[in-house]
Amino acid sequence: MNRRDILRGAALLGGATLLSPEAVWAAAAGDWTMGFADVEADIAPTDLQRIHGQAPVDLEGTLFRNGPAKFRRPGGSVGHWFDGDGLIRKFSIGGGQARMSARFADTPKRRADTAAGAVITPGFGTAAGKGSALSGPDDANAANTSVILAGGELWALWEAGSPLAMDPVTLETKDFKTLRPDLKGMPFLAHPRIEPDGTIWNLGLSGKQAVVWRLGPDGALKDAQVIGLPRASYMHDFTATERHLVILLQPWIQESFQMPYAASMAWRPQLGTQVLVIDKADLTKRRMFELDPFFFFHLGDAWEEADGTIRFDACIDANPDGVAKASDKLLRGQLLTGIAPPRLAQITLSPNGKASMTRFSSTAEFPRSDPRFAGQKRAFTVHATNERENRPLFQGVAVRDWARDREQVFDFGADHLVEEMIFVPRKGSSAEFDGWLVGTSLNVKARATELHVFDARRVEAGPLVSWRAPAALPVTFHGCFAQV
Ligand SMILES: [Fe+2]
Repeated sequence: MNRRDILRGAALLGGATLLSPEAVWAAAAGDWTMGFADVEADIAPTDLQRIHGQAPVDLEGTLFRNGPAKFRRPGGSVGHWFDGDGLIRKFSIGGGQARMSARFADTPKRRADTAAGAVITPGFGTAAGKGSALSGPDDANAANTSVILAGGELWALWEAGSPLAMDPVTLETKDFKTLRPDLKGMPFLAHPRIEPDGTIWNLGLSGKQAVVWRLGPDGALKDAQVIGLPRASYMHDFTATERHLVILLQPWIQESFQMPYAASMAWRPQLGTQVLVIDKADLTKRRMFELDPFFFFHLGDAWEEADGTIRFDACIDANPDGVAKASDKLLRGQLLTGIAPPRLAQITLSPNGKASMTRFSSTAEFPRSDPRFAGQKRAFTVHATNERENRPLFQGVAVRDWARDREQVFDFGADHLVEEMIFVPRKGSSAEFDGWLVGTSLNVKARATELHVFDARRVEAGPLVSWRAPAALPVTFHGCFAQV
């Protein structure tokens, strides 16, 4: 969609001067741009329509998803996809049926922007507007990136502020979590690494320093230590083995402090990508590895072999152009050509201090694996994939079997924007990846969000069951599945 299409949509509704930006967008959106449309209100619990197949009889639980869903306001809109208000979606599966509801995270940012009738709160790629007054990081917290369950609460996560506690049943917002009073408002990344026993490791970045958070399965703080880093890299994710934290320092580096945050960053490929390995039991014990430069958002769970070799998968971009140049254009209905999608790679850190990377041809984002094997040797990764040059985001689901060097793919077709899939173990089975993949797509032709369940070992056979929601919701980033 281009400017002419938007104006045509406005004309259909009777004149652009009378319309809000979100109404203009909604009138014009009819293709992939629906993935970046505005949601105007919470969605009460509603049944989904089963459109294909049968649900596994013993699959029960709830898929929680998070992603930005309000971008445009009459007096000014966000400057980047990452700065929309977080909408928490809840898909409950049981008895062969599925239901959904959705509720916005009730953040100070959302309240301030709503009151102003404009997006005035600065963010990753949005400048501060008139009347913006931040007293701390959580005043800009969009709570829009992921969601985890901790201590009976649902925590909506962002990467530059605190977890936002919500009620997992009603999705009602409670308050930001203060994990330790003297660390109030310190960042808590949207990608914690959760050990099989539920122990939560996470980082919070502040320039060349990071808080290393360690929480119990109940969300209670066990430890928080501040460590120094050799450079102020942009960091969205890290990974971990049973014994080590693995922190990648890419050469997209914060060289100033200004809002929007992305304006502070500079791409310095000559510096390469560093990999910092820290002993979980003693954060002063660290090793550094060096790799050629690359950009990334997401890593897979790492594992350590008997000789100390560490391996993990990563979704690799050549540079940050996709996030720095393309994401704001997506919100205007434009595709930026010439930006290659991220591709799968496996990184190996050898005991001799050398690091290497094997690149694969598969386009890949949102890697997930069996959470019962987090930090341990494993064979399977599921990721979103896309082989079309003229479509943004992803249209397929792929499962890579590292042990057999094989990949299964299911392509939903050009009409779908496929989101992250989450592995759910089959009851009574302990074998890796014996279970289901549960996830959503936005079917732009049907103008509806869909919920799908795959047999995790037979992805290429297609979904076992698909349901359709009575709403088309913009695409999400991350989520979790829980027995709630
Ligand atoms: Fe992410």
